[in-house]
Amino acid sequence: MQSDFNDSSIYMAGPSVTEADIAIVMDAARNGWYGKNAYKYIELFEKTIAEYHNRAHALMTPNCTSAIHLILKGLGIKEGDEVIVPECTWMATAVPIHYQRGKIVFADIDPVHWCVTAETIAERITPRTKAVMVVDLYGNMPDMEAIKALCDSKGVYLIEDAAEAIGSRYNGTPAGKFGVGSVFSFHRTKTITTGEGGMLLLDDEALYQRCKFLRDHGRQPGSFYCTEIANKYMPSNLLAALGYAQFLRLKELVDKKRWIWHSYIKALADIPGLTFNPEPENVYNSVWCTALVFDKKFGISKEQGMKAFEDRGQPSRPFFYPLSSLPAFKAYLSDTNGGEKNNPVAYDISSRSINLPSALCVTQEHIDQIVATVKALINGK
Ligand SMILES: Cc1ncc(COP(=O)(O)O)c(C=O)c1O
Repeated sequence: MQSDFNDSSIYMAGPSVTEADIAIVMDAARNGWYGKNAYKYIELFEKTIAEYHNRAHALMTPNCTSAIHLILKGLGIKEGDEVIVPECTWMATAVPIHYQRGKIVFADIDPVHWCVTAETIAERITPRTKAVMVVDLYGNMPDMEAIKALCDSKGVYLIEDAAEAIGSRYNGTPAGKFGVGSVFSFHRTKTITTGEGGMLLLDDEALYQRCKFLRDHGRQPGSFYCTEIANKYMPSNLLAALGYAQFLRLKELVDKKRWIWHSYIKALADIPGLTFNPEPENVYNSVWCTALVFDKKFGISKEQGMKAFEDRGQPSRPFFYPLSSLPAFKAYLSDTNGGEKNNPVAYDISSRSINLPSALCVTQEHIDQIVATVKALINGK
């Protein structure tokens, strides 16, 4: 399925790009510069992805981080407002809150699905809480019903960071349909890619118009008359063409991600104490990246796990660090926010978990080599 891809190396992450995808990008490169054609693929990609997710609107952005910033700005998040995020996620979930001078508040994750829960969020809600941003970590999904009920009862916005979860479903509803708005990432490492790219999905017409305005320097459409200082988060038609082409292949790409995940689970099934991305009964997990948690009985830290791969010249990555443990977020760490005492599950799971190679070019042969490393590590060799 890979175009011109003859490299036998094991890669941590990376896309599948076919000749059919390239043909669509070539059309944008040849014809996508004048009149309506200049926006053809942006509009097509936005419309197709919105319809698939049963959303009224979609706005493509240069990356997912800017899509998160756009919705926070669109919702009017400002200095002093608190936004709750999971303790364990990629930092991009949290930094746009800082851009708005809001306060980042960390909630603990669940030991089984690694996402926040209604209970851990409820512990962090204060009169200053304006929004909760849940994350579909590695493709896993939290208990959206309970979290939505909590947010509704407290009058706070729910936002879904589905950057890693395109193709996942909760009770049959696709990831990306939850909350007042949701975001996807099309980074080179994601299941569908535009190299760099993101998408904001919305239902509310007024919020959509506001975010669209903020995405293009706060100007009146088609004019140079700017009424507010905003951002330049406009998408590229060329990248949108690739995104559209990739999105048409969503099922095939998710099937491959799930094949990678299943293959690791099957090959390591005889070792009790290894846990992979869960798939509760009401969730279909698109498993952007296979993550592996070592049971405490092994006494294997994530650093030791990664060293075993490094020694064999194989790639691996750490499970996301608890954000409050990163120097970047030290201003947000306090007795009541972040830290191991407040969020023990995030600190524990992260300390003994790694990500396994999950690029879309991973083969059975690669899986066999990775599995051999895990087995040697467990057997102390
Ligand atoms: C959970 C999560 N949120 C947000 C982002 C940001 O995406 P981007 O790199 O497209 O800005 C990522 C990307 O890795 C992510 O994993």
